[in-house]
Amino acid sequence: MSETIESILHEDRVFPPSPEFTAQANIKPEDYEALKRKAEADHVGFWADLAREKITWAKPFTQVLDDSNAPFFKWFTDGELNVSYNCLDRHLDAKGDKTAIIFESDDGKVTRYTYKELTDEVSRFANALKNLGVKEGDRVVIYMPMIPQAVIAMQACARIGAIHSVVFGGFSAVALRDRIDDAGAKIVITADGGRRGGKTVPLKAAVNEALEEHCGCVEKVIVYERTGEEVEMVAGRDIWWHEAERGMPDYCEPVNVNAEHPLFLLYTSGSTGKPKGVQHSSGGYLLNAIVTNEWVFDLKDDDVFWCTADVGWITGHTYVAYGPLALGKTIVMFEGVPTYPHAGRFWEMCQNHGVTVFYTAPTAIRALMRFGDEIPSEYDLSKLRLLGTVGEPINPEAWMWYYTVIGKERCPIVDTWWQTETGAHMIAPLPGVTPLKPGSCTFPLPGIDAAVVDEEGNEIPHGNGGYLVIRKPWPSMLRTVWGDDERYVNTYWAQFNNRYYVAGDSARRDEDGYFWIMGRVDDVLNVSGHRLGTMEIESALVAHERVAEAAVVGRPDPVKGEAIVAFVVPRGDVPEGAEREALIKELREWVSKEIGPIAKPDDIRFGSNLPKTRSGKIMRRLLRAIARGEEITQDTSTLENPQILEQFMQK
Ligand code: PRX
Repeated sequence: MSETIESILHEDRVFPPSPEFTAQANIKPEDYEALKRKAEADHVGFWADLAREKITWAKPFTQVLDDSNAPFFKWFTDGELNVSYNCLDRHLDAKGDKTAIIFESDDGKVTRYTYKELTDEVSRFANALKNLGVKEGDRVVIYMPMIPQAVIAMQACARIGAIHSVVFGGFSAVALRDRIDDAGAKIVITADGGRRGGKTVPLKAAVNEALEEHCGCVEKVIVYERTGEEVEMVAGRDIWWHEAERGMPDYCEPVNVNAEHPLFLLYTSGSTGKPKGVQHSSGGYLLNAIVTNEWVFDLKDDDVFWCTADVGWITGHTYVAYGPLALGKTIVMFEGVPTYPHAGRFWEMCQNHGVTVFYTAPTAIRALMRFGDEIPSEYDLSKLRLLGTVGEPINPEAWMWYYTVIGKERCPIVDTWWQTETGAHMIAPLPGVTPLKPGSCTFPLPGIDAAVVDEEGNEIPHGNGGYLVIRKPWPSMLRTVWGDDERYVNTYWAQFNNRYYVAGDSARRDEDGYFWIMGRVDDVLNVSGHRLGTMEIESALVAHERVAEAAVVGRPDPVKGEAIVAFVVPRGDVPEGAEREALIKELREWVSKEIGPIAKPDDIRFGSNLPKTRSGKIMRRLLRAIARGEEITQDTSTLENPQILEQFMQK
């Protein structure tokens, strides 16, 4: 068990919301009780009423949940809507001049978009897409820096019923190519480059490389001019964003789509094979995006909400590009990194933009905590009223630092458990209601039937660890894995005979019923809040000519949560000395090129074979112990070649 989990299990402090917070909260204790009661009494009716109240439908639905082909559930099936209309147009009468986006670039330049301006930009770009032949249902890959044009591109796709698939700008050309191919994308939208921490991220160069092979599906590449640095444009295929927009009318009629029409695909790592294209719907996804921003982030009209996630991740979809805009709120977007040009950048931005609600990952908190308390104390953080975390368990030490040093013991912390697949928060506190325990994501939201179960699927007594499942369908659940229904069923439903959604996490509930997430039960690592499949990294390693075999495991890391340790069997001799150092460097670069810098192994060990059982199964538990520098207590008598353990123990 990792140190984080160990310390979390011994946590018994409780922080109830202040009466002042509760008094102004969107959801007060009595509202919470009423919501819960209603959801328990009539699950489907509960979601139907919310869907009618929160979404502007072009054609109202008459059917709520269609479970005739479970686990392929459908919600609000005969309804029609346009997500971009819900995020933009419907606010224009009352809030056209309200700021929608406050954008700060890497070098500190601030740009603001009102709802009217954003709507015009989205419309113009949607017209440009249409003009280039993009039709309803076409896939569009977006590979952009964290700039407003990324959101504009997403919203423009939604406006014309195209299905976007955002690929995080930190992924490599190879990873991008796989995603473009799998989605069968017709268009790629990118920028010449992005700026992060004073450096250029060469996005267009990566697109060119990705499109060199395969990707026959791509007809056009649209390039936003961001850095002005010279890039290679391919004649007939590539077009500048501003040229594509030239002469385009600044109104585009939103296309009404069926509630089940896919709004987007988002690729995420699993325990086997290549990343899966998680497919989300339009109506159901939008509903949970709206209610969770309202309930969990308690968003009000005068809030300034900053979710630091990149739009390349689900968090940047639900809590940047869609949810807060559907509520007509003001968001902050930031192109850069938390430590550039100084370690107070986040806090300086909170001060300068008057951020009231701030949402980030434990890994960022831990990294910033290392710089000490003085840095945040130099900034005026008095506007902050609510803090959030996501992506991995937060250790109580980091929680307490966030609570005292950033939130000044005034701001509740919402620790939100959810996944790419769930679309929106599933287990999270309601900040005006739930007494907080550092490290616990507390309770399932109203309408979410989460439970901890044993191998047979029976709910287990509080105190014991088990599988985290969701027992009833919810509107923003993934609909399938793009192009692979079988994988959808096998990955998420088969374990309990299609009765429950299986999250892939283990969890336990304490004596008060609080949920504590313990970690993944599959071969998925959580590195700085990002999901990486061990198999994905292993496949990247064995694609290198010097690698015969590789096994990858995680090791607890004080900042990143988990660090990546790779055990490599080289082709030829096990390298020594300078040769060894050179190969380590080369393999790290290689993985970075195959997947992206986030997947670079932190530690690479060489041996002449991997520890295997007689039947040839890699003894991963043994490798995990070695990676952590623990004493080997397992029985190693079945090992063919025990001296390889010695080899791997050498750093
Ligand atoms: O293991 C859980 C962890 O992140 C996984 C989901 O990763 P991803 O799909 O990339 O989405 C991340 C952002 C929603 C989960 O299976 N995780 C997410 N939130 C938490 C968490 N672990 C503990 N506490 C959380 N609050």
